[in-house]
Amino acid sequence: MSRTCLVTGSASGIGKATVALLAQRGHTVIGADLDDGDIRADLATAQGRAELVVRARELTGGRLDAVVSCAGVAHFDPLTIKVNHFGAVATLDGLRPLLAAGTDPRAVVVGSIDSVHPDPAIVAAALAGDEAAAVDAARAAVDRGEGHLVYSSSKAAISRWVRRAAATDDWAGAGVPLNAVAPGVVVTPLTRPLLDDPQTRALVERSVPMPLHGHARPEQIAPLIAWLASPENTVVTGQVVFADGGADAVLRGDSTW
Ligand code: NAI
Repeated sequence: MSRTCLVTGSASGIGKATVALLAQRGHTVIGADLDDGDIRADLATAQGRAELVVRARELTGGRLDAVVSCAGVAHFDPLTIKVNHFGAVATLDGLRPLLAAGTDPRAVVVGSIDSVHPDPAIVAAALAGDEAAAVDAARAAVDRGEGHLVYSSSKAAISRWVRRAAATDDWAGAGVPLNAVAPGVVVTPLTRPLLDDPQTRALVERSVPMPLHGHARPEQIAPLIAWLASPENTVVTGQVVFADGGADAVLRGDSTW
């Protein structure tokens, strides 16, 4: 059955591959991105977040069957917490009423293997919903030479948000599974500059070891997102599913079970 799905970050990488797969399966896909797609909105801003919801309502008549929040950046900069956490929360919360009107509604957000080593101050501010404090904490991390923690913290915060929200009346109570997919290293415009430089590539390989098949292509992540967003998923919710070639198993080992 054809479904209506909205994907943010649709212009590139994992989002683009997800749009292509959903469309190939016969679904209607609304793409949202900065300067491309059916909806052009900057999810770093309150105005862009509001525009996303207004335009989605206009384009769908107020009904969505699936939302995939994929838009993200990996700058050593407070912008990263704004887009990756607050933009994603605004996408999911803002479009939840449209999902409630849909059929077999599902929501998926893209996290990251990097979420396993965050900065607690950034995560705490983000989960408190305090964007100004989260930006301050991110700036503090950058100032002390730990700008990389802004990205990992943005992904830890959104992952923890998913786990907290998924079991509530708003999501599980409304029959909407809500999950995160956490990729390892995927070759996209986001990572290509790091992988093209031999020094940073070695660093990436050390920090994200991927014993199964090495670095992934976006097309390898899209089917998992598509399944979590499909009616076939009736029991999986509140999960952060690592799609990382074994990196989580190597990095966290026995510490999780
Ligand atoms: P990408 O750079 O190829 O695509 C990201 C898309 O998000 C772009 O089209 C971009 O324009 C859009 N975007 C960025 N800022 C935006 C904003 N303010 N408002 C609206 N759209 C915006 O990156 P990729 O690799 O496909 O990443 C997609 C998601 O996957 C991101 O959330 C990223 O953090 C995550 N991820 C990527 C990994 C990788 O190795 N490539 C690994 C783990 C997670």
